[in-house]
Amino acid sequence: GGEAYIEDIAFSFEGPFGRYDQQQLRRGFQVYREVCAACHGLKFVPIRSLSDEGGPQMNPDWVRAYAAELDEAIDKDSGEPRPRKETDMFPTRKGEGMGPDLSLMAKARAGFHGPYGTGINQLVKGIGGPEYITAILTGFTGEEKEEAGSFFYENHAFPGGWIAMTPPLSEDLVEYEDGTPATVEQMAEDVSAFLMWTAEPKLMGRKNMGFTAVMLLGLLTVLLYLSNKRLWAPHK
Ligand code: HEM
Repeated sequence: GGEAYIEDIAFSFEGPFGRYDQQQLRRGFQVYREVCAACHGLKFVPIRSLSDEGGPQMNPDWVRAYAAELDEAIDKDSGEPRPRKETDMFPTRKGEGMGPDLSLMAKARAGFHGPYGTGINQLVKGIGGPEYITAILTGFTGEEKEEAGSFFYENHAFPGGWIAMTPPLSEDLVEYEDGTPATVEQMAEDVSAFLMWTAEPKLMGRKNMGFTAVMLLGLLTVLLYLSNKRLWAPHK
């Protein structure tokens, strides 16, 4: 297929002052755990980070109970399976029909490549990883084909036009705890925001730090300007 057109989405975490929307992260996590987790792992994400400030900030007791319900972990010392703990990573998914790990997917893919492959749109719109994920989840046409014993589903956003993932979302697939209507578009954006958070949990801290740095450099500029003027005043 030709180059996919991926629409820009005004995610709350974009721009110099962008912040994650906690409610959206919670909804996105709900979509991940009820839908995507069946086939996609998050092997670089510590389960306990779910209760960190700036993330979905789930209740730590809830997180502990959630960890215990997940697949067993292999104990590092004994090599034996044991119940998963919140200090472990999320499980991985491997084998027949399973998809790639999603921990870093929002940073591993780009949504915008143009114009003419220059990538200039990325300066304006961001790299577009979350937009790419949303576009895949909403990009199914309903066409499917079988090839060499595998099924492929036509998808406008996927490079090549056919993806081996069954369309995972359908209207009202989840019942959001905060009452938000669960349209396909809504679930797609929410889970994309959640996956941006898994890929870059420290984004807000980094932006705060950048803001502080710019303010301090600005202050330094003013002070240098004034002291320079004062220093040279007698000679003018
Ligand atoms: C591929 C996300 C649910 C199986 C992908 C890709 C993304 C993704 C972004 C493309 C990765 C790439 O660019 O290489 C999601 C999300 C889900 C979800 C956010 C939940 C809303 C599922 C489910 C299954 C599944 C439930 C299994 C029934 C696969 C497989 C691939 C894939 C097999 C590889 C397809 C290929 O390379 O052709 N998924 N997925 N996914 N997913 Fe999912």
